[in-house]
Amino acid sequence: MYADGLLKDRVIVITGGGSGLGRSMALRCAELGAKVVISGRRQEKLDEVVAEIAADGGEALGVPTDIRDYAAVEAMVEQTVARFGRIDSLVNNAAGNFICPTEELSPGGFQAIVSIVLNGTFHVTHAVGKHMIAQGTGGSILSITAVYAPAGSAFVVPSACAKSGVLALTRSLAVEWARHKIRLNAIAPGPFPTKGAWSRLVPPGMDEELFKKKIPLRRYGEHIELANLAVYLLSEQSGYVTGQQFAIDGGESVNMGMFNALTELPPELVAAGMRAMRPKK
Ligand code: HXC
Repeated sequence: MYADGLLKDRVIVITGGGSGLGRSMALRCAELGAKVVISGRRQEKLDEVVAEIAADGGEALGVPTDIRDYAAVEAMVEQTVARFGRIDSLVNNAAGNFICPTEELSPGGFQAIVSIVLNGTFHVTHAVGKHMIAQGTGGSILSITAVYAPAGSAFVVPSACAKSGVLALTRSLAVEWARHKIRLNAIAPGPFPTKGAWSRLVPPGMDEELFKKKIPLRRYGEHIELANLAVYLLSEQSGYVTGQQFAIDGGESVNMGMFNALTELPPELVAAGMRAMRPKK
C-alpha cells in the first residue's frame, strides 16, 4: 500500500507499544523505515518487539515508562533524544479499561482509568510537544481514542470520559500548536480483538460475536488496517490534516438511522413490504 521508506529515518514514539495495537503500529512503522521508540510498563514485552524489529533489519528502542508519572515520561523523551537525536511523531496508544456497572464502580476505579488514559496522554503529549516546539521542525501526534469518545457508552464510563477528554486535547492543540507545524489527529477504533482489551471487556460466557451485530460490515478490524491508517496520519502525506478523529469501525459509528434496523431482516421480506406500500398506478 505504501512506498518502501515512506517513514525513513522518522523518529516515532509509540506508548503501549509492547502489545496489541501498539505493537502492530510499531512493526508497521519500522517496516516503512521509521526509528521506533516503544514505551510500556513491561520490559520483557518491549524487548520482544525491539528484537522482532531488529530481526527485520529495523531500529527500535524500548523504554519502560509509566505514563502516569510525568518525571518518567520526561526521562523517556530524554532517552529517545539521546539515542536518535530528535522526535518527529508520537502515538498515544497506551490505555486502560474495564467493564463495570457504574453504580458498582469505586472512585479509585474511575481514577485508575482516567489517570492512564487522560492524564497519561496529556503527560506524553506535553513532554513530547515541548520537545517538538524547541526542535522547530514540526511533527505529528496521533491519539487512539474510541468510537464512543464523542457518543459515550454504557458500562465503560471512566474510559468514555477519558477518551472524550483526549479528543478535546487533540482538537484544542491542533489549533494551538498549528503555528509550530505540529498536527494532532485521532483514530477511533471499533472492536479490534486484542488479548488485553478482550480479557477486560468481554465478560466470561458472553457471546463475543455480540458486538458484530452493531457493525454494518459484520466483522472485527484487522490490525494491519488500523496500522495503515496510522501510517497515513503520521506521514507527510497527511500534511493538511489536523484536529480530526477518524473512525475505523466497519460503519459502527454511523449505524444510527431509524430505518437501519430493517437491514437485520431478510432483504426479500423487507423489499416485498416496501413494494406493497407503493401507490398503485
Ligand atoms: C471494577 C475495577 C476493575 C474491574 C480494577 N478496578 N479493575 N473495578 N471492575 N474490572 C478498580 C480496583 O478495584 C481499584 O479500585 C482500582 O480500579 C485500581 O485497580 P488496580 O488493579 O490497583 O489498578 P492498576 O494496577 O493501576 O491497573 C489499572 C487497570 C488494569 C486499568 C485496572 O486493568 C490495567 O493495568 N490495564 C492496562 C491495559 C488495559 O486495560 N488494556 C485494555 C485497553 S482496551 P479501589 O477503589 O480499590 O482503589 C481499550 C479499548 C477500548 O482501551 C475500545 C473497545 C472497543
